[in-house]
Amino acid sequence: AFPQRIFSGIQPSGGLTLGNYLGALKRFAVAQDEGTDTVYCMVDLHAITVWQDPDKLRHATRELAAGFIASGIDPARSILFNQSQVPAHTELAWIFNCVARMGWLRRMTQFKDKAGKHAEEASVGLFAYPNLMAADIMAYHATHVPVGEDQKQHLELTRDIAIKFNHDYGVDFFPVVEPVIEGAATRVMSLRDGTKKMSKSDPSDQSRINLTDDADAIASKIRKARTDPEPLPETLEGLADRPEARNLVNIYAALADMSPEGVIAEFGGQGFGVFKPALADLAVSKLSPISAEMSRLMQDVAEIDRILGQGADRANAIAEPILAQTREIVGL
Ligand code: ADP
Ligand code: NA
Repeated sequence: AFPQRIFSGIQPSGGLTLGNYLGALKRFAVAQDEGTDTVYCMVDLHAITVWQDPDKLRHATRELAAGFIASGIDPARSILFNQSQVPAHTELAWIFNCVARMGWLRRMTQFKDKAGKHAEEASVGLFAYPNLMAADIMAYHATHVPVGEDQKQHLELTRDIAIKFNHDYGVDFFPVVEPVIEGAATRVMSLRDGTKKMSKSDPSDQSRINLTDDADAIASKIRKARTDPEPLPETLEGLADRPEARNLVNIYAALADMSPEGVIAEFGGQGFGVFKPALADLAVSKLSPISAEMSRLMQDVAEIDRILGQGADRANAIAEPILAQTREIVGL
């Protein structure tokens, strides 16, 4: 049995949203605070699978690091680093390129979604991305990976690679990782369309709350969030066919560390004229300290680089010996 270790990564490919905070960063901080061994990575090598302006990428990587720290990830207790600073990721990814089968990767729905009709023009990196993700995880012998629903298929591929590697070489070297899928209650939906995920890539800025939004922007986006005209129901079942209302209740619950039932117990029967301002106040009170801390950290990028450098040293200290053993197993 392998000791429990959590690994997760986020791409530095744009600003962070309330969805990233509630679905990822806040949960990452909870795992750290529970004393779990936690490794968190800015996956810049994943970001360049599609075009990135170099200066914007550098900025986004530092801003993402600031977002992690401002959300409660403590670089002394978690390993917090930038993927491209730890060479084991790319070397292990190459070995996994030689383990994973073409047919496995062809089945990946995210590649089909992202490449669309232009698969022939997509980068080879975008196609092979799941092998690098497998390397990210296995370079640390991580056992648990908190991810969104959309990454479930990639994690299954990671498991298949571990199983095939262990089988082909007759070893029990790589753990078969367990996905920790976010619950529906932590999936934050668009403020403009309750059936779509809140995302930094949505063209409408009104659809999302950015972690860098000020209090006025947060309040205005919540006030304008699409809803139906009915008051909130007296029971949770009453939200079943009301995705927009359900989303706002879930966001309130997640921000307040309450259950959705608790929110309904408090606001059932009230209209959005009452609930939206309460939600806006709550969101501002929870997010303002994070955005203030992010901008404070971004005033000293040398300090962010120093923190990421130290994180990379700690990451290397784990990944290098695992890579060395992998090379030995493979005969390299
Ligand atoms: P990446 O491309 O690095 O996966 P994403 O922004 O898609 O970047 O996701 C980063 C992390 O934030 C993932 O763990 C993902 O599950 C989480 N996340 C992103 N959007 C949401 C959302 N709307 N609700 C909940 N979690 C989300
Ligand atoms: Na994603």
